[in-house]
Amino acid sequence: MNNQPSILITGASSGIGRALALHYASAGYQVWAGGRSIEKLQQLCELHPNILPLLCDITNFNAVKASVSQLPALDILLLNAGTCEYIDDAKHFDGALFERVITANVIAIGYCLEAWLPLVKQSGNLAITSSSASFLPLPRAEAYGASKAAATYLARTLSIDLKKDNIHVSVIHPGFVKTPLTDKNDFSMPFLTTPEKAADIIFKGINNNKNEIHFPRVFTWLLKALSLLPFFLWQKIASRMTS
Ligand SMILES: NC(=O)c1ccc[n+]([C@@H]2O[C@H](COP(=O)([O-])OP(=O)(O)OC[C@H]3O[C@@H](n4cnc5c(N)ncnc54)[C@H](OP(=O)(O)O)[C@@H]3O)[C@@H](O)[C@H]2O)c1
Repeated sequence: MNNQPSILITGASSGIGRALALHYASAGYQVWAGGRSIEKLQQLCELHPNILPLLCDITNFNAVKASVSQLPALDILLLNAGTCEYIDDAKHFDGALFERVITANVIAIGYCLEAWLPLVKQSGNLAITSSSASFLPLPRAEAYGASKAAATYLARTLSIDLKKDNIHVSVIHPGFVKTPLTDKNDFSMPFLTTPEKAADIIFKGINNNKNEIHFPRVFTWLLKALSLLPFFLWQKIASRMTS
């Protein structure tokens, strides 16, 4: 009988997910590494024998469902894949951009949950990567922030409803992590951390069944404190960030 623990990580071809795949593989897990880029997944798999590729566009429900036949029972399902695009001009709202971000960051999670949640073992873990952007409205984040606020709500609701199934749910709220996603940002990113550091914190948080994993702490506590301000004050501060 195979006692090796198993984890499926989406968005493992790059950034935080890639670092997580290597971290879990080094800890002895059989890692199913999800992504759309076969080249990046193959390069990752060459780095550790415990990593297997799961080529799948999570916005394609048929592809997600079809992948089930190749997967084992899972100790951990870590839904980390995501995209970020900012709205340049709210007055001329880009509905297609909004749809892309909401589809990748919210609708696709629903597809993954329907297909893969039944694979998670009793006493297993589900983790969803949201963002500290979900704590309060940030300039130009109409699409990204809304998608991550939805992801947080979804994770928190699941942690209530999956308690009876003995599945522990963690919601992950990173601050800025240096990845291809943030390399595109044209603004300063305070307390920027590395994907390796992020992976270490997430690994420990899931291991300890934390409901919420947030980091770097100074940054995320600051955002949490700011989110308690009366909205008119925050509106004044936030609108100055872009002017
Ligand atoms: N970096 C940060 O500062 C930060 C902060 C807060 C939250 N986050 C969140 O952390 C997660 C990982 O972000 P990251 O910074 O590591 O970004 P990244 O380096 O751009 O990685 C994103 C990953 O998601 C995958 N992905 C995107 N769309 C997909 C789709 N339709 N189907 C399958 N896979 C898809 C990508 O795979 P392919 O390229 O192979 O398609 C890639 O592996 C995201 O949910 C992000 O919102 C990041």
